[in-house]
Parts: sequence; C-alpha cells; structure tokens
Amino acid sequence: MSASKHLRLGVNIDHVATIRNARGGDHPDPVKAAELAMSAGADGITAHLRGDRRHIRDDDMRRLKDEIPLPLNFEMAATAEMQMLAIEIRPHACCIVPENREEKTTEGGLDVAGQGNFIAPLVASLSDHGIRVSLFVDPDPRQIEAARRVGAPVIEIHTGAYHEACAATTNSRIKHELELVRKAAAFAASLGLEVHAGHGLTFHNVQPVAAIPELAELNIGHFLVGEAVFMGLAESVKEMKKLIADARTGGLY
Ligand code: PXP
Repeated sequence: MSASKHLRLGVNIDHVATIRNARGGDHPDPVKAAELAMSAGADGITAHLRGDRRHIRDDDMRRLKDEIPLPLNFEMAATAEMQMLAIEIRPHACCIVPENREEKTTEGGLDVAGQGNFIAPLVASLSDHGIRVSLFVDPDPRQIEAARRVGAPVIEIHTGAYHEACAATTNSRIKHELELVRKAAAFAASLGLEVHAGHGLTFHNVQPVAAIPELAELNIGHFLVGEAVFMGLAESVKEMKKLIADARTGGLY
C-alpha cells in the first residue's frame, strides 16, 4: 500500500491545562493553545477529560467544541459520566482509553477482547449520536479484531512501547516494536478500520511511524507542549507537521 500523502496531526493540549492548574488560575488557556495549534497547521485538537480532572476540565471541552473550528477528539474512559458528557458536547470523535487513578499517563491499550460486552453498547450509543468512535489499543491483533467486533470504525494504536524502546536506544527492540505497529496498522486496515496512532511520539521517533501507509492520523501532545517551552507552540507544531509530511513523501529520516 502506498502512503496517502496527507497524515493528519491531532494536537493534544492537555498539558497546557496541567500548567494552568499548577497555579489554579486560568493561564495558560488550553483553548488559546488550540487556536495557536490550528493556525500552525494542526488538523484536529485532542483533549482527555480524565475522571479526576487533573488537567482538562468540563468547561474546557465545551469551549474547545464551541470556539475551535477543527475536529475535536474527546479522549475518555468508558464510564457513564463521560458518556453523558460526550453526548452533551458532541465532539467529532471520542477515543475510548483505559484510565487508572494512579497512572501518570495512559499506560496501555484498552482490553476490548476482555471487556467487549461492556464496550459495545458505549460504541453504539456514541455512534448513534453522530460521534466517530475510536478505541485505543495495543498493537495486538486480538484487540484489533475485538474492536471491529464491537463496531468501532476507528482504532488508535498505542505507540508507548515503541517510544520506550526508542528511549532505551536498543536497535533490535526499536525494530521489533515498530514492526508490531506496522503489522497492526496493516491488519486493522485489512478489516476496514481507520487507523490512528499515538503516545510518546517526538521529533526524534515520529518519522518511522508516520511513514506507515495505513495510518490516517497521529495524536501527539506531551512532546509538543514540552518543546513549546523552548521554541513556542506554533513552531513545535509546524516542525512536527514538516517531519510527518517528509516521512509521508519518502523524505529522509
Ligand atoms: N493518544 C491517546 C489515546 C492518549 O491517551 C494520549 C495521551 O493523552 C496521546 C495520544 C498523546 O500522547 P502524548 O502526550 O505522549 O503525545
């Protein structure tokens, strides 16, 4: 399969809210960050409304939907509370993720194979309200098959293990983890699913993932917001877009 030229970049602005919440006021505003990301070329905005509201809050989600004319990807746990909020806010998409109170960030993919009976009605309910549902899964064919079985049109492949392999810099592990992501993307596409990927992607590790032809979207947050401290958010988004576009058109990496 040859890569379609355009791979969308969803910019996750959660950690702008993390900085805001450190002082309890309203600065920096994640909605203003979303506006800036949009002006720098972001194709969508992603935000995770966690059960503990540690970064994004309900009102941020409402404002992102009302004020930012890009597709909004609402990351959420499979809870009744989040289901009600998503139906009220009506984002373009919901990405269902596992959530543990103690974790620093989303640590693994959703167990769709084990919890299908629980997830299927949520997928149906959100879909009935016109929301495109994505399930965040490890690059595991069992989970991908289950995602299709429960009726999700989209999966997002968790690239956390690939990120960790890159950080550890052992080439054989990087190759292995990348191969798992590649095979998972090809398998999901063969089942007719739209395929996204994300977690732990940086300027240094994004290109081999971006070159995977079946991918339609990457969701990236922590690195872009971290790099914004040094180069500004608009520049970090522009640089990421350039790296992705180069990887997509067969540029060097
Ligand atoms: N995709 C999903 C489903 C996530 O949960 C996250 C983290 O919130 C991301 C992408 C972005 O990961 P990162 O912040 O490491 O770029």
